[in-house]
Amino acid sequence: MSSSDKRFAIAILAAGKGTRLKSKLPKVVHQIGGRPLLGHVIVAARRVVSPTDIFCIIGHEAERVREAVGAHETRFVEQREQKGTGHAIMQCREALSAYEHVLVLSGDVPLIRAETIARVRDAHIERGAAMTILTAEPPDAFGYGRIVRKPVSGSESDEVEAIVEQKQLSPAQQGLPEVNSGIYAFNVRELFARIDRLTTDNPHGEFYLTDIAAILQRDGKRVIAVRATDASEVLGVNTRAELAALDRLLRVKKAAELMANGVTIFQPETCVIDSDVEIGPDTVIEPFVQLLGHTTIGGDCRIRSYSVLTNTRVGDGVTVRHGCITETAVIENGAIIGPYSHLRPASHIGENAHVGNFVETKKTRLGKGSKANHLTYLGDSEIGEGVNIGAGTITCNYDGFSKHETVIEDGAFIGSNTSLVAPVRVGRGSITGASSCITEDLPGDSLGLTRAKLVVKDGWAAEFRKRQKAAKKDKKK
Ligand code: UD1
Ligand code: CA
Repeated sequence: MSSSDKRFAIAILAAGKGTRLKSKLPKVVHQIGGRPLLGHVIVAARRVVSPTDIFCIIGHEAERVREAVGAHETRFVEQREQKGTGHAIMQCREALSAYEHVLVLSGDVPLIRAETIARVRDAHIERGAAMTILTAEPPDAFGYGRIVRKPVSGSESDEVEAIVEQKQLSPAQQGLPEVNSGIYAFNVRELFARIDRLTTDNPHGEFYLTDIAAILQRDGKRVIAVRATDASEVLGVNTRAELAALDRLLRVKKAAELMANGVTIFQPETCVIDSDVEIGPDTVIEPFVQLLGHTTIGGDCRIRSYSVLTNTRVGDGVTVRHGCITETAVIENGAIIGPYSHLRPASHIGENAHVGNFVETKKTRLGKGSKANHLTYLGDSEIGEGVNIGAGTITCNYDGFSKHETVIEDGAFIGSNTSLVAPVRVGRGSITGASSCITEDLPGDSLGLTRAKLVVKDGWAAEFRKRQKAAKKDKKK
């Protein structure tokens, strides 16, 4: 943001319980777009001021909230008892004393954009206001505080007389279309000079921050309204239905943003793409794909239907075929995964490697160009380059007490249905015979083979069937 003014702090109201969600978790840790509500507000706030100028007011289940957004390096102010939005700001008196102005955001209004916060800041400064209110006219104003503008003849005044909460609206005020977004700028000195005049004389018995508008205005201070250009940006989350609605809005926007940046998404309304996901150009996302957490995907990839990628880093030119599940994994350039592969945490699939049908990996590095294409479990293993893992190969990594490592060096060929009993090492270029159980290290270029001698009995099967037939006849008699 341009002026990135040190004079501005941001306070985010996030101490409330969120009774209407009927949850044991505090409201602001509920997620949309795979990120806590408060996390969205902090991301926007950080684009306006530096993290150390952001104060999150927390109270209900404060530790949980801290944990959910701790990574953002913001500051926290505690509101031990939640006695209303005005009471929340009272707790910031000391923290804000060093600032000239404060932008107040709501932890439950998550779609707010940095550009809009900056607009409120700029209007506030330009008009020399004591309080600037971001307002909107949503299709349904019910439940929101309503803006009463100062009457002037002719054009609309940008000055506000009062904010009236839903339950206190007079019959004549019921139809007021303009709502308080819960987002404001205040002159810190003017605010704290009057905040002690707030009372709990209202239906909820709380200190309403909104009442400060009328107090300032009556004192001859300027209180102005700035309309949001997009009403959906200031929608609040109070119920599960609103949570779902905003989640949907956010994902529609996210998909549109990705498409604008050159990503193809077929039937985007069927895809679940979290807010922190990044995708390179010319990648194709097929219907019913989920990309979650901090997943990043390079360019020229194809992610086929029914795959779910969580916190996964995907390089360029990767194909993830149908029905793959990956978590905290890395897939390097040109690799082919699936269909139906399961990459569990700390799986690292090398360049141009292949992981195929019903293959599960965990804490495993599969080297460049190596292949594990069918029905395999690779756990706690380090696999070199150009290795071929035959169908049905299993690393026996757990002995009932602890996990052990399997190492397979470059160019090895693991025969189908090999069991590798860890800890074990297969040397460079070695081969294991199909169906072998490898319990000791194999030196390079060797063959490891464990196999019972084959017995062939001529005509045995024909004889067996004859006996079966006879037995059936006897039964019928
Ligand atoms: C508030 C506004 C309303 C506005 C709406 C916009 C008041 C009195 N009303 O109503 O005019 O239209 O937001 O979304 O401010 N909080 C605290 N401590 C408290 C109480 C609340 O930190 O003691 C936090 C909540 O966690 C929440 C925010 O303040 O993030 C707003 O509180 P909420 O109870 O949701 O207010 P609304 O009824 O939505
Ligand atoms: Ca609210």
